[in-house]
Amino acid sequence: MTDHQDVSLDWMSAAGEDRPSADLRPEIPHPARMYDYYLGGKDNFPADRAAAEQVLALSPLVRLSAMANRAFLQRAVRHLAEAGVGRFLDIGTGIPTAGNTHETAQAVLPDARVAYLDNDPIVLVHSRALLAGASRGTVTVSRADLRDPAAILADPDVRALLDAGEPVALLLFAVLHFVDGADDPYGTVKQLVDALPPGSYLALSHATGDFADPAEAAKGPAVYRSATAQLSMRTKDEVLRFFDGLELLEPGLVTAPQWRPDRAADPTDAEIGIWAGVGRKA
Ligand SMILES: C[S@@+](CC[C@H](N)C(=O)[O-])C[C@H]1O[C@@H](n2cnc3c(N)ncnc32)[C@H](O)[C@@H]1O
Repeated sequence: MTDHQDVSLDWMSAAGEDRPSADLRPEIPHPARMYDYYLGGKDNFPADRAAAEQVLALSPLVRLSAMANRAFLQRAVRHLAEAGVGRFLDIGTGIPTAGNTHETAQAVLPDARVAYLDNDPIVLVHSRALLAGASRGTVTVSRADLRDPAAILADPDVRALLDAGEPVALLLFAVLHFVDGADDPYGTVKQLVDALPPGSYLALSHATGDFADPAEAAKGPAVYRSATAQLSMRTKDEVLRFFDGLELLEPGLVTAPQWRPDRAADPTDAEIGIWAGVGRKA
């Protein structure tokens, strides 16, 4: 560990658990582990792979979508760091893989601070393993549920990130589609954005069925019904609502590969079922 490290791992105590295996539930597909499988990772179990294969059989574009989402995350974080944002609140972190938020941000701003939050214990185990050896700046990992924004805002690591009054980037990459309408996703995002200092940003990506035949689009959520979190795909207008009150940066809400691409356009870009955008709070 360097002097700059401040890796706080309070998820066990926060969750009141002493054994991470308590709810790893390898027999039930977990979205984080299915996503890891789409990305070619090894941190998944047979149940995750079987469910992920069902989704891939419905749409081979899902793997491309996962990769496009990950690439959008990196471009958006890099852009925000280049704009001088040094504080990142990353909710729905995912199992660490190449180009994580802290690595991408700290490549631009070495002292960038990141608070990672996820509700899946396996994500927290892997994040701890990664950060124990590799992080600079202040990077924290906590267990939290996006559906409980009050608890997120009361988290000491989140408070430390917000209380300095400097702009913060709230990152909600590929996580809001796991928040059902009944759990008030719009109220949740508003509560979090309201707590950000002026000049802060919201960057998000969200699965959509806008480019699929409606009957086909319904099949993806059906597979996730056996998983630990349900999939709620939303239309472009429904995703745009998350940016209410914010100034949407150019090029607006577009498919993930179309957000400030750093490679030549591909014909599949317009069909990738992930809406992506970044908004700024005045
Ligand atoms: C598809 S992965 C996205 C990972 C990363 N943000 C990315 O875009 O590469 C979704 C993540 O959201 C987490 N997640 C799902 N529902 C959540 C909730 N209600 N609260 C916090 N995290 C959640 C899952 O555990 C998983 O790690």
